Amino acid sequence: MSDAKVAKKKLYIETVGCQMNLLDSELVVGKLRNEGYELTDEIGKADTILYNTCSVRQHAEDKIYSALGRIRQLKELKPDLQIGVLGCMAQKDQKQILRRAPHVDIVVGPGQLAKVPELLVQAQEQSKPQLAISLARTAGSNDLVTSSFAEYDPIREPAMRPSSFQAFVRIMMGCDKFCTYCIVPSVRGPEQSRPASIIVEEARTLVDQGVKEITLLGQTVNSYKSVDSAGRTYRLSDLLEQLHEIPGLLRIKFITNFPNDMTDDLLQAVRDLPRVSRYLHIPAQSGCDTVLKRMKRNYSVALYDDMLARIRETIPDASVSSDFIVGFPGESEESFEKSMQLVDRSRFKNSFIFKYSPRQGTKADTLFIDDVPEEVKKRRNNDLLTLQTQISQEDNQRLLGKSLEVLVEGPSKSSKGISAGGVGQLTGRSACDRNFVFDGPERLIGEFVQVVAEEATGVTLFGRVVTQDLVPPRA
Ligand code: 5AD
Ligand code: SF4
Repeated sequence: MSDAKVAKKKLYIETVGCQMNLLDSELVVGKLRNEGYELTDEIGKADTILYNTCSVRQHAEDKIYSALGRIRQLKELKPDLQIGVLGCMAQKDQKQILRRAPHVDIVVGPGQLAKVPELLVQAQEQSKPQLAISLARTAGSNDLVTSSFAEYDPIREPAMRPSSFQAFVRIMMGCDKFCTYCIVPSVRGPEQSRPASIIVEEARTLVDQGVKEITLLGQTVNSYKSVDSAGRTYRLSDLLEQLHEIPGLLRIKFITNFPNDMTDDLLQAVRDLPRVSRYLHIPAQSGCDTVLKRMKRNYSVALYDDMLARIRETIPDASVSSDFIVGFPGESEESFEKSMQLVDRSRFKNSFIFKYSPRQGTKADTLFIDDVPEEVKKRRNNDLLTLQTQISQEDNQRLLGKSLEVLVEGPSKSSKGISAGGVGQLTGRSACDRNFVFDGPERLIGEFVQVVAEEATGVTLFGRVVTQDLVPPRA
């Protein structure tokens, strides 16, 4: 395939959903590049179009079905065009995708993504769609042989990363919590932690490729637990300690945390390891015990409050963010008011707020009626968001005049770009995950700089670069 005379196949890929999906797409592209594909961002020029999908909410699925509708004509004009639906929606809808969109060639669940290249070949050779949706893994062991990308580590695609100096590293797959509203456990399978040695090795390889910041990924990343062949157990705190030793790895983040597993050893690791981000994303979902029970979250509001108090005490400068679902079945005005109160007293850096979306195959969908009207969901969403935005702004204002260490990520989206002299508006993030915008030369992209905050909105701090660090960051 490396023969330069063979025209490369052009691959167009679109990813919806979470960071786990972005990483999956990177791995799929890495595999396909090895088979002689090259990326294009022009869908009309593609030989292969892939959608890596999400099924957490209905809206994400609707987007994909309409995208599939739009490209039907392309396939009619170009019969050799291959179309694939990958990821969570492929797992959830399976054959239904082929019924609704018969022009699709492959439907591949999250457990079978390593097979995408061969499935594309089979679909062409057999002139019939291929479905690969097994989630089978060796139960209760660290054997990754049957799971998605068991063998992927070296085959990654730097061009698909957030930037050349930032990368995602999966440390866990699946989820065993089975919150009643959530489709993830059924589409991503049982929880499994990857061995610590493999994760550390992967991080080293990424650093050798120029990566400075990694984000560890897991549905409940702080439930991480693996045991090596000598019987030593690794918790997330142990893993962070090991990763912290890697020279050149300057920032380590991890998402998403489950409240019950926010143990003291983890908080101490975040406090004591200067290159670990002081940023904790810990979804609360609701501020009402009755709703939390119906969601089967397995904690009370009091436990969540206690956990936050422990965080504030151990790491006073940590920033915490959360997720909330509004309009869950049976959520009364009083229940919702309790979510407002939780947001009010918790002072989250930010919150992601979602309107409840019934998912077929989940407990909540079978047990409860989606009884909160859409207008009420909308209103509650707006109210919670307005309150959170006000808090985020107050929180950002407290930082005015302070200097924070920022990793410069690239040109600011709102900027007019970089001028001929290489100067323009840049954007970056602090270790506590605050979003900064400031003027500076292009050569700062990928560097750590000190930025003084001068103006604050709820989502952005506008600032001025004061120094560029010459030494690796300390906090
Ligand atoms: N409806 C609305 N939001 C949901 N989430 C998960 N499932 C649903 C659902 N059925 C939200 C949760 C989770 C985030 C990733 O998506 O808040 O933390
Ligand atoms: Fe879904 Fe709950 Fe698992 Fe998060 S912890 S992925 S919300 S089941």
